[in-house]
Amino acid sequence: MQYLKNMKHTMSCIHQHGIRVGVLSYHLSKHLNLPEIYWFLHFIAGRWHDFGKLLIPTSILNQPTPLTSEQWEIMKKHPIYSYRLVSLCGFDAYIKKAILYHHENECGTGYPFGLASENIPLSSKIIRICDIYDALTQKRVYKHKLNTEEAFSLMDKDKSLPSYLYGVFKYMILSDYRCLTKKELLRRG
Ligand SMILES: [Fe+2]
Repeated sequence: MQYLKNMKHTMSCIHQHGIRVGVLSYHLSKHLNLPEIYWFLHFIAGRWHDFGKLLIPTSILNQPTPLTSEQWEIMKKHPIYSYRLVSLCGFDAYIKKAILYHHENECGTGYPFGLASENIPLSSKIIRICDIYDALTQKRVYKHKLNTEEAFSLMDKDKSLPSYLYGVFKYMILSDYRCLTKKELLRRG
């Protein structure tokens, strides 16, 4: 019974995080003046970027203490799992790539491949920024929730983020931007 309870909680967290990252990615793409089709492609990629975490043991996902190096190696596989799962669902190659590289860093310190800036798709960079912001501003079992100011003070120091995209994202959040819910987004469509 406790197992089912934990699983339900984990799935709900992954689901809600995916929706928020999808909505943020949609709006960031819009603020970047990308063609409209990319707003929707990036929404879908953001929505499903962490789908593969369903294949990571809940004991690792919900561990309140820092992960061991072995656990961390398992965790680092989730972009590949997400890629495989969305492939099974017949997702477009553009979306699959966006998902596969969503933890790569500008300076090549990311995972699972350690790609550097020019080899990381724009779509993955967009999702990465939105993902980090959402993770910082939400409560997790291993950390408390930060407000926007606290989140940006940490992100400002993060040299692994692409500076232009991050600048646009920060402007978007700090300006009159209002984060639309998925329901509102669909209603507008
Ligand atoms: Fe992720």
